[in-house]
Amino acid sequence: MSVPPNAILALEAEGLTKIYGSGNTEVVAMKDVSLTVSKRQVIALLGPSGAGKSTLLTAIGLINPPTSGRITIGGQPVMDGPRSLVDLRAFRRKHLGFVFQKANLIPFLTAVENVAVALEINGETPAKARKRAMELLDYLGVADRSRNLPEALSGGQQQRIAVARALANHPSLILADEPTAALDSFRGRQVMELFRRVAHERDSAVIVVTHDHRSLDVFDQTYEMEDGLLRHHKSDLLHS
Ligand SMILES: Nc1ncnc2c1ncn2[C@@H]1O[C@H](COP(=O)(O)OP(=O)(O)O)[C@@H](O)[C@H]1O
Ligand SMILES: [Mg+2]
Repeated sequence: MSVPPNAILALEAEGLTKIYGSGNTEVVAMKDVSLTVSKRQVIALLGPSGAGKSTLLTAIGLINPPTSGRITIGGQPVMDGPRSLVDLRAFRRKHLGFVFQKANLIPFLTAVENVAVALEINGETPAKARKRAMELLDYLGVADRSRNLPEALSGGQQQRIAVARALANHPSLILADEPTAALDSFRGRQVMELFRRVAHERDSAVIVVTHDHRSLDVFDQTYEMEDGLLRHHKSDLLHS
């Protein structure tokens, strides 16, 4: 599927290369990777361990700058090689959402507080933050667990809270690195379907690194990384 010409692009990554170390210890983890994602798309990123998936995701996530290449998010140029063109911390908080393999919830806060805190960091009042956090928990089907501490929740429920937290500030781009690796296949699929719904209904784009080939039908496009190179995965030929 190609990107419609008028679609607002969530991400334009152009010629991203990442070199770790130097001399004998040099590792080229990502080689001239270009990727364009429009809003409302949900993208899968496959590939073996060490292929460079996390390097790409953390570059796009403005956590781990590329050695060279350009990154534009929501139409705003944000990186030119390792040089940042915006205040990265502020930009990340406003425009990006992250979900990791582990939910990483704050253990002494309830589910709703874990989501609300992400809004309060961005300047929302506690009352409004709580209200929006409840709406998000409801959207993700875990409203009934709002007063529970993380330890009282299943892995799947915790991951839903983490997705709610990632959605809190209406990010234009959500980045998920193996978000279902710790879940059984049923819960894993539910989380993947959630990402699809979020992308299609919330005007966000979602990029998911995954090893789960059983859920690939959920995605609009599937890419594969190997040895730092990015290419379309063969499953894309089925619906392109
Ligand atoms: N901080 C780092 N320093 C040096 N090498 C790294 C660092 N992070 C990752 N690498 C190397 O870069 C390559 C890609 O790693 P990574 O992006 O984590 O791959 P993946 O997420 O696909 O498993 C690997 O060879 C890895 O060892
Ligand atoms: Mg990784």
